[in-house]
Amino acid sequence: MHLVIISGSVFGTADLVADEAQALCQAAGLQVRRLRPLELDALLALAPEALLVCCSTTGMGELPDSLAPLFHTMRDRFPLFTGVPFGVIALGDSAYGDTFCQGGEQMRELLLELQGREAQPMLRLDASETVTPDTDAEPWVQAFITALRG
Ligand SMILES: Cc1cc2nc3c(=O)[nH]c(=O)nc-3n(C[C@H](O)[C@H](O)[C@H](O)COP(=O)(O)O)c2cc1C
Repeated sequence: MHLVIISGSVFGTADLVADEAQALCQAAGLQVRRLRPLELDALLALAPEALLVCCSTTGMGELPDSLAPLFHTMRDRFPLFTGVPFGVIALGDSAYGDTFCQGGEQMRELLLELQGREAQPMLRLDASETVTPDTDAEPWVQAFITALRG
């Protein structure tokens, strides 16, 4: 299983969560690539068999600036990922109310529109609740790995 991890972050927390997820997936024997640069052609060139998105939320429910261009290009060019299993780890802060984790939610909805298959319900990591999102994500990542194998 060839997994591509995409992370979008403002202050680096989502990147840390992605680093931890990458280590766990590699330890489980998955072939993992991080998408760099965050460009659609680079993603398509990797021909992912599975996708993991780790992204935070900024502004009022917006995607980080690093990830927004990829999101818009994907929405415009609409490359189908039919049946490709994916998961999203969304970072946010419930103090923002209605826009809680909307960055991750936008990526999730787009991947569903592109006919991806959500392998594991989206994880929401709340900065109001935890200061250790990377270790908090571990059980979810393990379940995601199991789901990819199923
Ligand atoms: C200016 C600013 C705006 C934010 N807006 C939202 C928001 O609309 N919804 C949300 O859930 N979290 C929001 N957050 C919280 C961040 O998403 C959260 O702290 C996250 O853990 C940051 O991850 P990062 O370090 O990867 O950027 C905001 C944080 C900042 C500093």
